[in-house]
Amino acid sequence: MKKVQKRETVAVVGLGKIGLTMAAIYASNGFDVIGADVNQAVIESVNAGISHVKNEPGLDELVIQGHQNKQLSATLDTKTAVSQADIVVVVVPVLIYENNDVDYTYMDAAVEQIAAGLTKHTTVIFETTLPTGDTRDRFGVRLEAVSGLKAGTDFFLAYSPERVYSNKILSDLKKYPKIVGGINAESLQRASAFYKQAIQADIIEVESTETAEFAKVAECVYRDVNIALANELAVYASEKNVNIVEVIQASNTQPYSHIHSPGIGVGGHCIPIYPYFFMKRGLSEGLAHLAREVNDGMAGRAVKEIDDYMDGLKDKRVLILGLSYRENVKEETKSTTWLLVDQLKQKQADVFVHDPMFTDAETKKRALTPFSLTEEAAKEIDVIIVQAFHDEYKSLDFGWFTQCKLVFDGRNALDQHAVKKQGIAYKGLGL
Ligand SMILES: NC(=O)c1ccc[n+]([C@@H]2O[C@H](COP(=O)([O-])OP(=O)(O)OC[C@H]3O[C@@H](n4cnc5c(N)ncnc54)[C@H](O)[C@@H]3O)[C@@H](O)[C@H]2O)c1
Repeated sequence: MKKVQKRETVAVVGLGKIGLTMAAIYASNGFDVIGADVNQAVIESVNAGISHVKNEPGLDELVIQGHQNKQLSATLDTKTAVSQADIVVVVVPVLIYENNDVDYTYMDAAVEQIAAGLTKHTTVIFETTLPTGDTRDRFGVRLEAVSGLKAGTDFFLAYSPERVYSNKILSDLKKYPKIVGGINAESLQRASAFYKQAIQADIIEVESTETAEFAKVAECVYRDVNIALANELAVYASEKNVNIVEVIQASNTQPYSHIHSPGIGVGGHCIPIYPYFFMKRGLSEGLAHLAREVNDGMAGRAVKEIDDYMDGLKDKRVLILGLSYRENVKEETKSTTWLLVDQLKQKQADVFVHDPMFTDAETKKRALTPFSLTEEAAKEIDVIIVQAFHDEYKSLDFGWFTQCKLVFDGRNALDQHAVKKQGIAYKGLGL
């Protein structure tokens, strides 16, 4: 008689944007997946076959499929989910505090539960972006202490960073190779074998968990530094009356030139955060620090330019387009809008924020004044700042803004002739 092979069980701890997507992919590639999360609403939604993560193409269908095939379920009970799993994937955030120190609150709590449920022969893989050394020295040590098991022999421990982009997670996963590091050869081999089946992408095996952790943060530092360079060049290009967009397009035709785009600020939960995983852990000076300073300084620089042009902003009605940190996502972590609002309030401007991704109630809840994009309301606006260029703004009619004196295009995204045609001054970055 033909032997039926038992499907392996994966526990995914943290069912957020990344965790749920990974869980659904693992289920679609032949694993039984139990997602564990502390949020009751998330659990109920996944158990009803509904993705609570929106705007992620392909995810709704995968969650329905996983639910219908009985290969994807969710629970609040991390300990039990882990005790039933052959593989545990951890995607709970590690954040930073206001002072930029690393905030382990969520992850430490998750690791306690994982440790309590850990059994022999399980492979535990961290996917959350981490300071170098944490998989082995912080979480591995705690897993051993609570479970009484030895990492590398009783259970296996690996790290594999998530390198995907919101809104493109499923397609990015197929495109980017998956970097995997283990605390020893067997941990690496098991984690690597898992990903070969679970995501069916190319795998890059690296020497250690530390190499894999470092690689992810290095990517973020590279991008932050590169954007800071683009910002510096944009400021200088303005002084020289040169168009930086044309410059970058021309320069980047040389294969070693990869200059990124300048912008009014760098937001989100990756680039402005993860450099601190180096900077607070021994990388005490240099480019990473300077880049953070340059990029976070762009909002202040823009407000100063606007203030100079307007001859003061006191009681001027300033409309910021986009609360999200970038276009077409609903995510305001470290959004440049926060820096802009702060700077504009110091100038005593009346600040309004419009974002099609957020309801007025959601905007108000964040202590901001929402703006309805109607022809009537538009007449009252003196200055517009483009912070996140959502698709909706592509068809914005500047003819509505009859009192507006200046549009500051913080993303160099608008057709400046369409603005100027309405008698409104236009400023971009290095244009
Ligand atoms: N979102 C991205 O674009 C992205 C890209 C690359 C890497 N990452 C990495 O993935 C991590 C997770 O990102 P995300 O966007 O999925 O975050 P998220 O905020 O969408 O989800 C995190 C989930 O973890 C859950 N959680 C918190 N504490 C928990 C605990 N103790 N036990 C179980 N679950 C718990 C939360 O309830 C939430 O559902 C990030 O911290 C980052 O390191 C994210």
